[in-house]
Amino acid sequence: MIRAAAILFVLFSVMGAARADPSAPPVAIADLIPGIEPVTVTVQDPVYKKSKRFQGYPLAALLRKAWPEVDGWAAEGAELVLTAVDGYAPSMNLDRALTGNGVVAVRDLDRPAEDPWEPFAKGASTITPAPYYLVWTGIDADDPHYRWPYKLAHLSVTSFENRYGGAAPPERAGARAQQGFRLFVQNCMPCHAVNQIGGHTGPELNVPKNVTEYWSAQHLRAFIAAPESYRLRSKMPSFGHLPAADRAAIVAYLTAMKKRKSCPAGTSC
Ligand code: HEC
Repeated sequence: MIRAAAILFVLFSVMGAARADPSAPPVAIADLIPGIEPVTVTVQDPVYKKSKRFQGYPLAALLRKAWPEVDGWAAEGAELVLTAVDGYAPSMNLDRALTGNGVVAVRDLDRPAEDPWEPFAKGASTITPAPYYLVWTGIDADDPHYRWPYKLAHLSVTSFENRYGGAAPPERAGARAQQGFRLFVQNCMPCHAVNQIGGHTGPELNVPKNVTEYWSAQHLRAFIAAPESYRLRSKMPSFGHLPAADRAAIVAYLTAMKKRKSCPAGTSC
C-alpha cells in the first residue's frame, strides 16, 4: 500500500510538472535591461582567477521582467538555460538563479568605459566576456550548481522533464530510483552525464558501461560519501553530508539506468 501510494505520488508530481510546462522561448538580455537599476559587485572570479569589480544588472530582476510567472516555474523545479553567442548553453536550477545573488555584468569597473573588458586566453585565442557575463556574489567559484557563462546573450526557461527526461529511470524502476534521479540531477549532474545528459567535469556514468556494471553498490555508496578514501586528491567533492538514505537512492537510480541506455548514434552499448 505504502509503495503504491509512493508510486502514485511520483506519477502525480510528474503529471503536475507536465501540466504547467514552462517552455519560454529565448529572450535577448539587451531587451530586458532598459528600466532595471544597475548594481556594482565584487566577486572572486573563476575565469580571471582573481577578485574583480563589475557593473551589471541583478539576474532575478531581469528574469521577473522577462516572465512575470517565473517564480511559479521555479517552484516546479524548472531550469534556466543560459545561451552564449556561440551557442554554448549550460543550464541551472531556476530557483537557485532567482534566490542567489547573480548579476549579469555589462562592464569591468577597472577598465576604461570605451574598452570595458579585460581579455583572457581561451585555448589558442584571446577573448573577452562581451556582450554579457553572469557572475555571483557569495558563491564559491567551485560550486557546480552555479554557472558563470561569458559571451552570454539570451535567457530561456525549460521544464525539468525537457532538460533531463533522457536521463530519467525507466517508469517501472520504483519510487526510490525516481527519488535518486532528482537527487542525482541536483548533486551530481553538474559534473556527470548519464545517457550523455549533464556535465563533463567527471566521467559519464551510464554509457557504454553503467557504473554499477563495474562498481559494487556497497563501494559506490562509500565512494560517494568519501571519494578521497578511494582516490588520493580526488577531484570529486565528498557527499558525506547527504543522509545515507539519499546516497542509497542515488545508487538505486544508477542501478536502474543499466536498463535504459541511450548510446551515441551508430554504436551499441
Ligand atoms: C564537482 C564535480 C563533481 C560532482 C558534483 C560529483 N562528481 Fe563524481 N567524479 C568527479 C570527478 C572529477 C571524478 C573522476 C575521478 C576522481 O577525480 O576521483 C568523479 C568520479 C565519480 C565516480 C567514479 C566513476 C568511475 O568510473 O570510476 C562515481 C561513481 C561518481 N563520481 C559518482 C558521483 C555521484 C553519485 C555524485 C553526486 C552525489 C557525484 N559523483 C558528484 C566529479 C564530480
